Amino acid sequence: METKMQRNALVLSLQVCFLIIFLTHVSGENSRFDDHFHDQKRKMQAFKSSLIRRELASSPSPSPSYYSSPAPSPQTVTVDSTRVFEATSFGADPSGKLDSAEALEKAIAAAFQGPKEWFLMDGITNLGGAQIRLQGGIYKISQPLKLPAGGAGNLMITGGTLLASDDFPTDGYLIDLSSSSSSSSYNYEYITLKDLMLDCNYRGGGISVINSLRTSIDNCYIAHFNTNGILVQKGHETYIRNSFLGQHITAGANPGERNFSGTAINLMGNDNAVTDVVIFSAAIGIMVSGQGNTISGVHCYNKATGFGGTGIYLKLPNLTQTRILNCYLDYTGIVAEDPNQLTITNSFFLGDAYIVLKSINGVAKGITIVDNIFSGSNKGIDIVQLEQSSGPFKEIDQVVVDRNNVQGMNMRATIAKESVQGNGTSWIVDFSPILLFPDLINHVQYSLSVNGTLFPNYALRSVSENRVVIESDVAVAAKVFVSVNQAVTI
Ligand SMILES: *[C@@H]1O[C@H](CO)[C@@H](O)[C@H](O)[C@H]1NC(C)=O
Ligand SMILES: *[C@@H]1O[C@H](CO)[C@@H](O)[C@H](O)[C@H]1NC(C)=O
Ligand SMILES: *[C@@H]1O[C@H](CO)[C@@H](O)[C@H](O)[C@H]1NC(C)=O
Ligand SMILES: *[C@@H]1O[C@H](CO)[C@@H](O)[C@H](O)[C@H]1NC(C)=O
Repeated sequence: METKMQRNALVLSLQVCFLIIFLTHVSGENSRFDDHFHDQKRKMQAFKSSLIRRELASSPSPSPSYYSSPAPSPQTVTVDSTRVFEATSFGADPSGKLDSAEALEKAIAAAFQGPKEWFLMDGITNLGGAQIRLQGGIYKISQPLKLPAGGAGNLMITGGTLLASDDFPTDGYLIDLSSSSSSSSYNYEYITLKDLMLDCNYRGGGISVINSLRTSIDNCYIAHFNTNGILVQKGHETYIRNSFLGQHITAGANPGERNFSGTAINLMGNDNAVTDVVIFSAAIGIMVSGQGNTISGVHCYNKATGFGGTGIYLKLPNLTQTRILNCYLDYTGIVAEDPNQLTITNSFFLGDAYIVLKSINGVAKGITIVDNIFSGSNKGIDIVQLEQSSGPFKEIDQVVVDRNNVQGMNMRATIAKESVQGNGTSWIVDFSPILLFPDLINHVQYSLSVNGTLFPNYALRSVSENRVVIESDVAVAAKVFVSVNQAVTI
């Protein structure tokens, strides 16, 4: 029969094992950064052995503050030694009346005074999961909350409202991750902004994330921005999820919609994801000018196309590499400049919302627009449109617009099928009302169906202007079946 002590020892060693497995995994993932790998591994090993030493020395229940240094025994853990920083402890006013900018900066500075021996990316101090808690208060701030310079990460700001004061700088952001004097190639890593309401008071923007890595913006409500709700520049892997952004607090049919301005999310960096987000007012919902971004589950009803708004604007001609999946474009559409590698799929376009491919230098490549739903009000609006005022599309390749489900709008596609019945020597099928690109047919398949015993000779004569012409040598009553494809190499 095992004793209580033996059991505790077993539990402890399991915990240590788990930690070691976890840490090995983490350091294993770093292995693609060859330069840092061995250094990181050494640090991790040191960390592991310090944990083991502590576990052996202390009583059964492990200390919750693994990162405190020197390692305290559980009995000596006090509130002060945990890494939770409450806004009011630093003199911030949760009633939203007094300016709390300085007090909150102090809380942030305190959170950054963490242990200095653990690291994330090289040069980024691991703050261990420090939390700055806003304790459900509303804090007025007259200056952006800038994270200190110097490269740090594994920190969360959570649980309250920030409100820009009437003299907040109009080019500022309430939370600003931009300081750059870090020795790392990134400013910050793994900063989490969670459960926050940011009210920009029409004075600037909500959050700026500059040259940072693995930033999470989760369950935030960002309103009254005049510039950007969220700006992401350089760096990568900013994940924006389960959040709500609007310049004006409205739920649609707002009488001031024509005047909505600003951009809810401005992605000027690579490899970010916007997931399950609602954008309820702004001139532009999401502006993308970095590559490898994914936009999914986003509902844009920011400003109707008819009033000059755009749901998602892809401003990265010939370098698009963007996936838009499972989104809801509600009276506002998508514009893509010279798209090269763009997927728009499984999305819902309501209220005559449509997609514009805009030519800059005439590139339309690797575009997949399939399996979407379009619903309009019979105004004759095309689901996908070309904007060629700066010149026609010339480099067209691998473009598939197909299998969209359309009601009350005009279907456009790059693949089409049609049949015509006639009695004579010539059959003409005009695909120009449906094919997306003018005067472009790369593949044709056709057959001529005729009753009776006659076997006429027939041939394809022309495909110009997207009109397929088939002729026979003798007059015959026949039905011609034609399918065409505008794609070049697929
Ligand atoms: C929109 O802005 C214009 C010019 O600033 C102003 O005259 C107009 O009243 C505004 N409309 C609404 C509905 O707010
Ligand atoms: C577009 O990018 C491709 C490389 O992906 C390049 O070969 C081509 O010249 C570019 N076209 C234009 C018009 O810039
Ligand atoms: C086709 O046209 C010819 C000549 O006009 C006519 O004699 C013939 O009945 C027509 N056939 C059919 C199936 O309409
Ligand atoms: C062939 O005959 C059937 C029945 O008589 C008719 O329905 C069909 O339209 C005819 N097909 C052509 C190509 O004339």
